[in-house]
Amino acid sequence: MKHTWWKESVVYQVYPRSFRDSNGDGIGDLNGITEGLDYLKELGIDVIWLSPVYQSPNDDNGYDISDYQAIMADFGTMEDFDRMLAEAHKRGIRILMDLVVNHTSDEHPWFVESRSSKDNPHRDYYIWKEPKEGREPNNWGACFGGSAWQYDEKTEMYYLHLFSKKQPDLNWENPKVRDDVFAMMDWWLDKGIDGFRMDVISLISKDQRFPDGPMGPDGRYGSFGPYVANGPRVHEYLKEMRQRVLSKYDTMTVGEASGVTVEEAKKYAAEDESELNMVFQFEHMDLDGGESFKWNTRKIDLVELKQTLSKWQTELAGKAWNSLYWNNHDQPRIVSRLGDEEEYRERSAKMLATCLHMMQGTPYIYQGEELGMTNVPFQGIEDFRDIESINAFHELTEAGIMSEERMLECIRYKSRDNARTPFQWDDSENAGFTSGTPWIMLNPNYKTINAKEQLSRKDSVFHYYQKLIRLRKEQEVIVYGDYQLLLADSHEIYAYTRELDGQKLLTVCNFTKETVTVEVPEEFVGGRLLISNTERKEVTKNDELQPYEAFVVLLS
Ligand code: NOJ
Repeated sequence: MKHTWWKESVVYQVYPRSFRDSNGDGIGDLNGITEGLDYLKELGIDVIWLSPVYQSPNDDNGYDISDYQAIMADFGTMEDFDRMLAEAHKRGIRILMDLVVNHTSDEHPWFVESRSSKDNPHRDYYIWKEPKEGREPNNWGACFGGSAWQYDEKTEMYYLHLFSKKQPDLNWENPKVRDDVFAMMDWWLDKGIDGFRMDVISLISKDQRFPDGPMGPDGRYGSFGPYVANGPRVHEYLKEMRQRVLSKYDTMTVGEASGVTVEEAKKYAAEDESELNMVFQFEHMDLDGGESFKWNTRKIDLVELKQTLSKWQTELAGKAWNSLYWNNHDQPRIVSRLGDEEEYRERSAKMLATCLHMMQGTPYIYQGEELGMTNVPFQGIEDFRDIESINAFHELTEAGIMSEERMLECIRYKSRDNARTPFQWDDSENAGFTSGTPWIMLNPNYKTINAKEQLSRKDSVFHYYQKLIRLRKEQEVIVYGDYQLLLADSHEIYAYTRELDGQKLLTVCNFTKETVTVEVPEEFVGGRLLISNTERKEVTKNDELQPYEAFVVLLS
């Protein structure tokens, strides 16, 4: 397996709106990120993935871009960006930009032109279709509710939008679209950024027959998935992107790949670097989905979680590279989902971190995860800001599919807004995030859960993450070792080994609130304890694990 810097890196995701506000308008900004760089350096991360900071009308918090080469006024100026980039590089931190090119904003000049007339030169930058029997061209539903087709009176045709109607899909079949996107990528790379996280990149190529999709559970819309996810030309487009753009620079690329399977991932993230370096897969995050898609309060089953993650670990080994994540700006907080928010919050946060960071792949930390931040006690629907949650609430309750009470329970548990409340810097007013009025409520637990407190305490979640990051730099087996699952059927324990050139590592994690006895493989008894989230001093044959305990043993 080839050794590369991006395999050996740990990435930290910054959600600019919620990280740090430097000018008191209640919205995080680029100067705020610059102010936070020393904190990130202290944590030890190598790369920042910056969620979109481009000009945008903010229908989907910046994932609807109206100018790819301008900075959103809320976040500052291009000079602020350049300063942040230079300051990050000074500290040895690389910057990945979020590349959102499946769609633009409907306020992007390309779309404004495109919708203006059928013969406008930009018409074919987007996907326009005639009505079919007076209705939408097919039955596809959009991710943020309603049909995926929006009728436009001006030219009496529909345009496709897989997300909100303010996010029209670009037509990648058109070579001019690809030329413009690639030129824009060159522009950012020439500026000195270090790569891209590519938003829903698995959806850019659509089956040109645009067939109806299988009906969803509530019988209103069909799924576009089978005709869009890993579509017919996606690998061709990414190879073209590699040849025309990425091959000219030393970059890191990670593709957000909804609907990706291990077979597909082996193409996207192949060792030969012909497309991307790695993808974000969703299988482990979707295990608590089901009939009502994400809107439920079901818990992820540990045996299924192990099966899924182990499949990705073993099947990509030597062929493609994994990304490792529990959290991002689209997921609820992992402590609330798989750990314990109360008595064992810190210990369970550390256990979850151990479980993930000892695997093969590049780990991603989402802002606040390193503090063990939790889901938020949102009250009514008026507390939410996220278009997905708000639209789903109205759509499902108004259609009588879910009661308001039940839907609120579900979005409290699963809403993306759980990840988007302000970063908790300290216990002062507004958690030190802003001197103004924050754009979204704070999690009231900032009085106890905050960076300042954790930096002052040796046994904090922050310092535990810092150690995990350091260990990855010290022990090659953590980066490159082969993975093997142990105790596959246990409903309590996640245990696995890693192995590289005679070095062996054992990770054992208790995913429950109970004390659990585990039989430790003979060879590891007496081995060197690399990290542990309790007072543990050694490992014994029939070892007793405390609630949410985790440890790692190294043999070398
Ligand atoms: C995935 C992004 O992570 C999410 O936040 C966004 O809403 C959609 N793509 C649409 O861009």
